[in-house]
Amino acid sequence: MSTLLDIQDLAVRYAARRGLFSSTPPRPAVNGVSMQIDAGQTFGLVGESGSGKSTIGRAILRLVDTSSGSISFAGKNIADFGRRSPLSYRRAVQVVFQNPTTALNAAWTIEDILLEPIRLHRDLPNAKEQSKLVDQLLDQVGMSEYHRKRYPWSSPAASASGSRSRGRSPHSRSSSCATSRSARSTSRRRAK
Ligand SMILES: Nc1ncnc2c1ncn2[C@@H]1O[C@H](COP(=O)(O)OP(=O)(O)OP(=O)(O)O)[C@@H](O)[C@H]1O
Ligand SMILES: [Mg+2]
Repeated sequence: MSTLLDIQDLAVRYAARRGLFSSTPPRPAVNGVSMQIDAGQTFGLVGESGSGKSTIGRAILRLVDTSSGSISFAGKNIADFGRRSPLSYRRAVQVVFQNPTTALNAAWTIEDILLEPIRLHRDLPNAKEQSKLVDQLLDQVGMSEYHRKRYPWSSPAASASGSRSRGRSPHSRSSSCATSRSARSTSRRRAK
């Protein structure tokens, strides 16, 4: 299997916080992290709260700067991208956030939420094709036509499924969610 995501010796530091009367030095959030994820592989990263799981995710998404080390995706070092990640990378690497009630826009219907990434990332010829894909996505997570015009907050099942469905919608080749456990950091791999 070929390596899709290759992280070598990653370190991330959060900037110093400066107050009026005090300042805190930069804090290392992760240090010396290396991991590889193969195409088609499911990779679970588990660790106690504050161990740096979300920070690793943010570094992969380029939401935080890395202090050292490298992250390569499909053979390309993501540090070589310009200031804005190319659409192909944003399409391939996506997040399903842990809490659907805060991750989803409460003013949008489930249909609006599903259509946005479809319009951005799929080259579907017309609204009919886009709508057909919405049907398929709803069906994949056990939702129906009835849920289209409902809001994420209108039923717990709708919000949870809506979040899962949104995570599936574009051509994403990789998605991540982090979880914390009060246990020693471990990582678990399972090849598909
Ligand atoms: N924006 C930030 N500014 C400064 N320090 C931060 C920031 N975000 C996280 N940290 C610190 O970085 C370290 C790693 O945090 P991170 O959120 O990555 O951990 P986590 O494993 O995802 O935790 P949890 O399981 O609670 O979500 C922690 O010490 C945290 O306090
Ligand atoms: Mg976290």
